[in-house]
Amino acid sequence: MKTLIVIGTRPEAIKMAPLISMLNETREIETQVCVTAQHRHMLDSMLKFFGIRPDYDLDIMAADQSLLAMTSRALAGLENVLSDARPDLVLVQGDTSTTFSAALSAHYKQIAVGHVEAGLRTGDLSAPWPEEANRRLTSVLAKYHFAPTSRARENLLREGILESTIHVTGNTVIDSLLHTAKRLRTSEAQRNELDRRFGFLNRDKRLILVTGHRRENIGDGIDSVCDALTELARRKDVEIVFPVHLNPRVKDSVYRRLADVPGVFLIEPQDYLSFVYLMDRSTLVVTDSGGVQEEAPALGKPVLVTRSVTERPEALAAGTSRMVGTDRAMILDESTRLLDDAKAYAAMAHAENPYGDGKASQRIRDTLVSAC
Ligand code: UD1
Ligand code: UDP
Repeated sequence: MKTLIVIGTRPEAIKMAPLISMLNETREIETQVCVTAQHRHMLDSMLKFFGIRPDYDLDIMAADQSLLAMTSRALAGLENVLSDARPDLVLVQGDTSTTFSAALSAHYKQIAVGHVEAGLRTGDLSAPWPEEANRRLTSVLAKYHFAPTSRARENLLREGILESTIHVTGNTVIDSLLHTAKRLRTSEAQRNELDRRFGFLNRDKRLILVTGHRRENIGDGIDSVCDALTELARRKDVEIVFPVHLNPRVKDSVYRRLADVPGVFLIEPQDYLSFVYLMDRSTLVVTDSGGVQEEAPALGKPVLVTRSVTERPEALAAGTSRMVGTDRAMILDESTRLLDDAKAYAAMAHAENPYGDGKASQRIRDTLVSAC
């Protein structure tokens, strides 16, 4: 079987890396990788870390381009790649514009589609936007649905997806996370190097790690999160570290509001090893990221989710994350409660793996091999 894996953004690279490496060792399957490069720097840093060398690179990123412009460029580029590579199966991940463009391109070329991380739903097309639409549209087109959890499977069944095409595998992000966390644990040299790199952080203070990039939060939402962080940073016992997403509309707001706030460190997007190190060092994570909502519970870190709705209810149910929206007072109250109430903190800070056991890629590979 000839497969083409298409990825475009940072999380797609992190989540497809373990599958790429597993398929590369699988005799029955020939694997090629196409990057649309919807992200450039944030993708390249991941390709380098995971040692992925793409066979095709569409290089479609342009500063702050519209969704339609980006999608059109992806579709045009994919037409040529699919004609050249002639795969039997196109594998896509998640819910980005790359995911949907690659699924649609494959369908138009009558090539089967496998969807990794299938079945996540909020039920609300406006949140996350445009991802809820991207993943629903991809489900319509896919032949194999690799659902990370049984809830995701149920979502697909409710939409009439054939049961025999759904495979519950866990999320491949946990494969990557466990592998990377082990690398950190076992390499003292690497830990020392990271301690040096983050020497500006004070070990005597508790660390709050923040990320944010959702399009529906751009503007008032991000501003309000920044106001809550400004207030939180007044505490003498905490420091805030915020690797800022490169979307200019996110970056401009965050730098405008937080660049001069003492106790807040705005840093560049981090390579995966450094980010896992920061998650591991943190007391609390504040984020609207999908991937981080899956990783932090596995590391036993409480997460405050700066969204109004999530497609990842498993962590809420496990008690390791809480939805706070972008309301300044709510973020402040919940953070303060976790910082000051040891019992409330302990209730959330227990390691749970609702998203997988680190063997998701193996299960996906096994399913594909038995279909060969
Ligand atoms: C995209 C995905 C989102 C995913 C997120 C992960 C879509 C519509 N959105 O959102 O689902 O959760 O990635 O981070 O598919 N930029 C750079 N350098 C980079 C990356 C981005 O400069 O390495 C800037 C560019 O100006 C780019 C902008 O960020 O135009 C937005 O990037 P884009 O991929 O369109 O959307 P994201 O908001 O990053
Ligand atoms: N991440 C990273 N460096 C950073 C910020 C995030 O490696 O500076 C990782 C994080 O561990 C997670 C993924 O990137 O695996 C999440 O990406 P993002 O938040 O951009 O996208 P989402 O998951 O929301 O689609």
